[in-house]
Amino acid sequence: KQDKLEELKKAVKSYPDFPKPGIIFWDLFSILSNPSASTLLKEILIDTAKTICPPVEVVVGLDARGFLLGPLISLELNIPFVPIRKKGKLPGKVQSYKYELEYGEATVEIQEESIKAGQIVLVVDDLLATGGTLGAACELVKKLGGTVSKCLVVMELPALNGRKKIPADVISLMEF
Ligand code: PRP
Repeated sequence: KQDKLEELKKAVKSYPDFPKPGIIFWDLFSILSNPSASTLLKEILIDTAKTICPPVEVVVGLDARGFLLGPLISLELNIPFVPIRKKGKLPGKVQSYKYELEYGEATVEIQEESIKAGQIVLVVDDLLATGGTLGAACELVKKLGGTVSKCLVVMELPALNGRKKIPADVISLMEF
């Protein structure tokens, strides 16, 4: 697995000073544009999800790149995929959670009936940076009565200490 991860890491491109000066953008799409790297990523995500105990019952993916990853896992495990979206995008009754960004705030939402009380949830996204987004996702799952068993991210920026904000175990495939 370590060899596969090294291989995958080589496929990740970074863009300095995007979207703002001083920020480095780590681009999931550089993996997805490369078929062999994408296949590796898919295998690792599925293997990781399959070994989680007790078994995952729902995969939650975060707006927007978590939507590209979550269904790869949920289809393989034959379980539901549920989106968490930025405010105002999901129809029907929703639960909302507001959280602090480095500058300002953001709100994310989940559909109320999407998770049943007691279900075991895996939350998936491309990147863990400050942890605000993933932390908010965990709070929304909790509001619906679900249990976040693990959060799974492709990339983590450990220098930003995002993990501290996450009230669940975090698995990251690569650190930058
Ligand atoms: C990025 C990334 C994560 C989040 C991580 O999404 O895809 O979801 O930021 O940052 P955090 O750990 O500091 O919360 P972004 O907010 O850029 O939205 P997008 O997916 O719509 O581009």
